[in-house]
Formats: sequence, structure tokens, C-alpha cells
Amino acid sequence: MLRRSNVWALGLLLLLPAAAVAGEPLFDTERGHPWDEARNAFYVRRFSTGEVFDHPHAVAPPWNEYSQFNFDPAFHANVLSRLDAVEELPAAQMEEQPAVRRVILLRDLWAAFDGLHQLHNHWERRPDVNGALRRGVARRDELLYRLARVMKRLELTEEEVRALPNAFQVIVDRKLYPTSFDSEMASKQFFPSDLLDESGPWLTYSDQQQPHAGGEAHMAFIQHRSVFTLHLRTPDGRDGGLKFFQDYIKADRRLDIPPRSTLALLNRAIVPTRSGKLLVSPLVESLQMIVVTPPNDHRFKFMLDRRGLLAGNFGLKALGNDDPADFSSFGDAFLWGHPNEPRKKDVDGETFITGKYSRVQDMPRAFDVCVRCHRETLRTNLFGRGGPLMPHVQSDSQKVDATVLAKKAATDAWKSYLRLRATQSK
Ligand code: HEC
Repeated sequence: MLRRSNVWALGLLLLLPAAAVAGEPLFDTERGHPWDEARNAFYVRRFSTGEVFDHPHAVAPPWNEYSQFNFDPAFHANVLSRLDAVEELPAAQMEEQPAVRRVILLRDLWAAFDGLHQLHNHWERRPDVNGALRRGVARRDELLYRLARVMKRLELTEEEVRALPNAFQVIVDRKLYPTSFDSEMASKQFFPSDLLDESGPWLTYSDQQQPHAGGEAHMAFIQHRSVFTLHLRTPDGRDGGLKFFQDYIKADRRLDIPPRSTLALLNRAIVPTRSGKLLVSPLVESLQMIVVTPPNDHRFKFMLDRRGLLAGNFGLKALGNDDPADFSSFGDAFLWGHPNEPRKKDVDGETFITGKYSRVQDMPRAFDVCVRCHRETLRTNLFGRGGPLMPHVQSDSQKVDATVLAKKAATDAWKSYLRLRATQSK
């Protein structure tokens, strides 16, 4: 019979693998690399329960109020020292590192910069008790400054951005997946490597006539650090798609999407460059697809696989039924629950992930959430936004990209970054 202490020991053993996975090194084979330490300071979150949260596909850190970063002096000092350790590295371990390594840390820290920056307005409304708020603001500003200095050294040249791995090209070269959905295939996984071919079967569209990237809700949620575009492929290819749009508009948007059509939402990373300009890169950060197969659609989702990308692989992971939903993207916004629903907080006052979860395992699975917005079958719901919208073909991808870059460049967060990055020393 197992004694109580043995049960405890067994419990601890079972817990070990889960704990070991959190904060796994990304930039080195060993733990402790300064880049990993800096990234983990923002992306690995320890709760007062001892649970550790480290989401494999998060595109932003798992914090809401960033309370400890700004109001806990010891925590703050620890984060600063990790950023300092990166800043002190010689050029060979920073500027001269391969672009694909730099872009990962740069973009992950950028999300932290934007997250911390966003707090400002929220704080201004708080009463300042004994100067605690003033000290919090000073700590926050110190973090933004250090982040900007580190980010500046990681920026890519414009040529490096253009040469980043392009999943569409890699797939064609390595013939990794079939290009379209085949209901007869045992494994239905596919990757539409022809998605962006100008004369291919896919149409890019949005709900506006002028150049516009259609994924507005997704872009706004991540503060325009990526471009989200909408794409449709009907069984009759490009011509079939154009005809469908015409018929759809004529029928006042009450026309079913042809069965076996595929809808896609493509997310490509924006990258800060050494010239201070923002560029849209070929790096795919996610690709979501819905294949219209009444009565139940098929859904697919690829997410950036940082480790795979660093190893020179395809760089995207096809999510399966066990992969968790991603709290950091708009697609899972409703994980936050109704605004009137009370949010659970940890003892430090920091909201649990989306006000509910303290462990990745507890979160819903990625594919369980799609129906919440898209239903089992799309039918006429072309844009998934609660009502079918007027489709316009977007044929000039450069102009589309430029609209998103202009939007990001005009934000206070980006302007602060440019200002801080220009400050030589304090
Ligand atoms: C919170 C609601 C929500 C959830 C959940 C959601 N989506 Fe969407 N989805 C949207 C919205 C809104 C758009 C329109 C684009 C925009 O405004 O960003 C969209 C667009 C899309 C598109 C482009 C075609 C179209 O219909 O507009 C695809 C494909 C898609 N989503 C797939 C998925 C998949 C796959 C999942 C689950 C893994 C999912 N979505 C979960 C809200 C959601």
C-alpha cells in the first residue's frame, strides 16, 4: 500500500516534467543564456500557488497590469539586471547574431514594450498614495528605456527582413504538405503555398474598397505588430472567387459560400529595422483556415514555432486537438469572459491569465474556441464578425501592407520607442 509520503513523492515526480518544460532554453542548449533570461523575465509567469505559466505560442507576455514589474522593487530589479546582462553583451553576441535569432527576441521584447507602454493611461486615473504611483511610473519608464536599448541592438537591416524565412517558399521547396484540402486523405493537413501567388487560385479581400488589410480586429488586439489579411479560394479558383463575390453582392450577402471553399487568415510579422523604419516581413506568425464542408467545417491553425525556426525548419507548427488556445491573440478574446464577470487575481493584484487561468493545461483547446465566433458552418458569414460584410478584392499587397505600417508608426508606443532608442545614455 502507498503511504501518504509516497503519494506525495509520486505527486512531485508527476509535477516535475511540467515544471521542467516552463522556461525551456530557446537560444542555447543550456539554461542561463542572457537572451533566454531576458525573454523569460516577461514570458514565464510564476503564480503565488507555485504554478508556472509559459505558453508555447504566445505572441505577447502573460501579464495584464504588469504589477510586479512596476510595484515590486525586487522583481523590478531582477528584470532590469537581466536586461542589463543582454545590453552588456559584445556585438558578436548581439548585432552580429543571425537575423532569425534576433527577430525572435526583438519581436518578443517589442510586445513587452507595447504592453508596458499601454499601462500609462490606465494609471493616470489612480490616486497616488504616498508616492507609490510615482515610483511605479519611474520603474515602468526605466524598463521601457532598457527594453528600447536592447531592442535597438537587435534590429534587422532592411535586406535581412526581406530575406527572413518564408514558409510559403520553404513548403514549395521541400514539398512538405499538399497545397489544398483533400477530404479523402487520411491526414487532412495541408498548406496553401500558392496563397499569395498573384495569378493563383486565391483572392485577397477585405471589407473596404481602398487598400486595407482585412483582419482589423486581430491587428488592433496586438497593437498592429503584425499584418492580418483575409483570403478565399473557391473550388473554381480565382475566376470562381471573382464570380462568387459578384453573386454574393447581388444577393445582398445572402448567398452560401460554395462548399469546399477555403478561407484563410494570414498573419505576417512586422519588424523594426536599423533605419528606424518598420517593414512587413515574409515571416508567417500564424495561418488559420476554415474549409467549408457543411454540415461541419474543418479548421486548421499554424503557429510560429520559435524552436523549429531557429533549427532551420519550416518554422510553423500545425496545431492539433491537444494544443491550448492562445490568450494573446484576438481569436481567443472571449476567454476574457463578459466585462461584468469578476476577474480572478493573484495575491499581488495581477489578473490571472484572462482573469481565469493559472496553468496552460486549464485553458480551452485551440480548436474548441473557433465555433464561438464562426459557428459550425460559416454559410454566408464571410467575415466571421457576426454579419456578412461587403467583400472587395485587394490586389496590391504592398499598398495593403503600407496601411498597417502607417497605422503602427502613428502610435504613441512606436513614437516612444523611437525617442528612447535615440537616447544614448542616461
Ligand atoms: C473571438 C471571435 C473569434 C474566434 C474565437 C475565432 N475567430 Fe476567426 N475571425 C474572427 C474575426 C472577427 C475575423 C475577421 C477578421 C478580423 O477582423 O480580424 C475572423 C477571421 C477568420 C478567418 C478569415 C476568413 C473570415 O471568415 O473572415 C479565418 C480563416 C478564421 N477566422 C479562422 C479561425 C479559426 C480556425 C479559429 C479557431 C482556431 C478562429 N478563427 C477563431 C473572430 C474569431
